[in-house]
Amino acid sequence: MEKVLILDFGGQYNQLIARRVRECNVYCEVHPYTMPIEAIKAYSPIGIIFTGGPGSVYEADSPQVDPAVFELGVPVLGICYGCQLLAHNLGGQVTPAQDDSAREYGKTETYYNVSSPIFKGLPEKGVSWMSHGDYMAKVPAGFQLTARSAACPNVAIADDTRRFYGVQFHPEVNHTEYGTQMIRNFLYEVCNARGDWTMADYKNTAIRQIREKVGSGKVLLALSGGVDSSVCAALLAEAIGSQLTCVFVDHGLMRLNEGDEVEQAFSKWSMNFIRVNAESRFLLKLAGETEPERKRKIIGEEFIRVFEEEAKKIGAVDYLAQGTIYPDVIESGAGTAAVIKSHHNVGGLPDYVDFKEIIEPLNMLFKDEVRQLGRELGLPEYLVSRQPFPGPGLAIRIIGDITKEKADTLRQADFIFREEIAKTEQDQCLSQYFAVLTNTRSVGVMGDGRTYDYTLALRAVTTDDFMTADWARIPYEVLDRISVRIVNEVRGINRIVYDITSKPPATVEWE
Ligand code: XMP
Repeated sequence: MEKVLILDFGGQYNQLIARRVRECNVYCEVHPYTMPIEAIKAYSPIGIIFTGGPGSVYEADSPQVDPAVFELGVPVLGICYGCQLLAHNLGGQVTPAQDDSAREYGKTETYYNVSSPIFKGLPEKGVSWMSHGDYMAKVPAGFQLTARSAACPNVAIADDTRRFYGVQFHPEVNHTEYGTQMIRNFLYEVCNARGDWTMADYKNTAIRQIREKVGSGKVLLALSGGVDSSVCAALLAEAIGSQLTCVFVDHGLMRLNEGDEVEQAFSKWSMNFIRVNAESRFLLKLAGETEPERKRKIIGEEFIRVFEEEAKKIGAVDYLAQGTIYPDVIESGAGTAAVIKSHHNVGGLPDYVDFKEIIEPLNMLFKDEVRQLGRELGLPEYLVSRQPFPGPGLAIRIIGDITKEKADTLRQADFIFREEIAKTEQDQCLSQYFAVLTNTRSVGVMGDGRTYDYTLALRAVTTDDFMTADWARIPYEVLDRISVRIVNEVRGINRIVYDITSKPPATVEWE
């Protein structure tokens, strides 16, 4: 399989670059810029991409690359900081932009030399997304200028002989028109890629590898009903059938019908499916608890306890499987981010279960690829395209203490919200949308009587990576229909509000 190497210099869009490359049917991996040259050689890439990053190449402690990378005969595309790194290393000069006009941020009208391979087939003018405060004062020998903007004569550089290319803007973000085409051009026009990365191939290879590895062994998987663990289960079920046991812990804080849907989806495989209905157990542990971090902790711990009890009944297994996906394992070129919330998933399980080895068959895939693989495996669309759902479930969408009654109220309201959104096909544009039961009660009037009921909040966001998110502009008519239906159909709610905060400063979930 042909592979592209993405060297990460700490930029914020680096995973997006990898997704774009894979969308072009070429496999790639993101590695920190510190990857040793021997490892780069061993990886044997058909092309290397240097990402953006917050540093300035002329500063002493800025992230650098081993200059031997330029001697490998492998094409390089430098993006933003990566472009400056190319220039800096190959005899050019990068300086802080002298005046404000040479610093560029945001959408910028850009003119391309379409005879350069990177810009082949593009219009001569387009909008590109810039974000740089440094300036290439001197372009290195052997390079040509291949794009310019009003503020900047040297937006892109190219050395066709050595196959080194640099762009100051970010082709990977949606704001750059024709950006994916530029990346495709790098892959196909410069690196001569064949495009051998497809999900059908991946599925067959993964199934073969799982069979070889597992042999006649037993595999255990904690199935949450989320996309990742569901696809992981389907892949393993296809590969090893009844050697697989999936334990699905229903903590009673799922969305309406979700538990049954998950069970139904897996009935076609001959694997062992254990559903543990643990609602009362979880509610008992959560009773009276109002503090968000404590709620998360209680659920995480109880989850492990239930799973452990089931695992004991099964006895020793050879492998514990996990639906870890690629974004969880990428080691960034930059430092780690601050922890805002202690996310619960099943990552903490291995200490508690008797097994020999762990297998993570999705750990090379991005989320959209996981969904594609799920489709290849014949999982129903409602499971595969399911929006993310937090491990602690509705517990972090019920503000204040949790009761079964509140959970039922929220489930009904959330279902109506989702149903109405699905009718409008808005769901295609929304990354996540759900209802939150606040602990605020207010006065209302229904019929001729006074009510004193809960306020429900609706939350809908659009995002690429959930690190930042924008609140969705759902049309007023749609919001109106949802509000009327919920207040009429769900007892205990007499007021609906719509959350119009982006992340940051808010987070997606309320707790
Ligand atoms: P926040 O609220 O941190 O959410 O902006 C970002 C994304 O993460 C999901 N989320 C979780 N997922 N366990 C999970 O598996 C958790 O504890 C958890 N908390 C938040 C959230 O739904 C959103 O998609």
